[in-house]
Amino acid sequence: MKAEVRLEGKVAVITGGASGIGEATVKLFVRHGARVIVADLQDEKGKALCASLGSDDVASYVHCDVRCEPDVKRAVDTAISLFGKLDIMFNNAGIGDPFGSSILGEDDTAAVFERVMGVNVLGALLGTKHAGRAMVAAGRGGSIIITASMVSVVGGLGPPVYVCSKHAVVGLARSAAAELGKHGVRVNCVSPSMVATPQTMSHMQASEEELEALGEVISTLKGVRLKAEDMANAALFLASDESRFVSGHNLMVDGASSVTKIF
Ligand SMILES: NC(=O)c1ccc[n+]([C@@H]2O[C@H](COP(=O)([O-])OP(=O)(O)OC[C@H]3O[C@@H](n4cnc5c(N)ncnc54)[C@H](O)[C@@H]3O)[C@@H](O)[C@H]2O)c1
Repeated sequence: MKAEVRLEGKVAVITGGASGIGEATVKLFVRHGARVIVADLQDEKGKALCASLGSDDVASYVHCDVRCEPDVKRAVDTAISLFGKLDIMFNNAGIGDPFGSSILGEDDTAAVFERVMGVNVLGALLGTKHAGRAMVAAGRGGSIIITASMVSVVGGLGPPVYVCSKHAVVGLARSAAAELGKHGVRVNCVSPSMVATPQTMSHMQASEEELEALGEVISTLKGVRLKAEDMANAALFLASDESRFVSGHNLMVDGASSVTKIF
């Protein structure tokens, strides 16, 4: 039986697409028939990923710092010049906050705030703006997705500035959903709990096994471990026409961790 293809003919930009959740999503979107622009800072990794997926007609790499407006605009423009349009923007690039684990800490608060909010919030805002402009101008609608986090709805499970940044992008998605909905553009978030990716393993100085086990401990679902591929599947749903009436939503992929207290 032929596998179902859910993004046939669609074009996506995925920021932070060279690694972790973004990389898994690039692979899944291509498998489902999409052409993808991988926008990241990790040039070698991003180019190698695109090369592994076949020709430039399928996936192409663009160097893009999501804090830099011309870079973000170029990523969107490249999707249109190379693939003819933009249907899906996945604002996934994000960084953790390995410094400011306490609001009372002695860290350089302003610098940490600027760094984390710059990537996580300004980056998502610029991606939403430029993708939204392109989608509205084309008049074909579109899907914008932002990677938030389980900590977008609960405090006490992460460094304060990181928690602020992830709460903020939910507000951004809701605000953009309100404005862009009349143009047929949907805006949603996906929120993981704990996925073992290069970022989490390095920040938490833990192995893949340790992080996956932690994710399972805080979840109600025993014997199930959250993988980057699960996040890609959630993004696939929000990117595809199957979610055509879903907008302004924050899709929690956390095994009920944020709505139960079992740990
Ligand atoms: N892994 C988790 O447990 C987890 C949990 C909650 C939320 N998240 C969020 O998921 C998203 C993806 O993270 P991940 O865990 O896959 O980490 P990752 O480090 O594997 O991937 C993040 C990617 O973003 C890129 N990036 C960082 N700063 C950038 C910038 N300024 N411009 C462009 N690209 C940039 C990195 O180069 C990297 O390729 C982030 O938004 C993160 O906050 C992850």
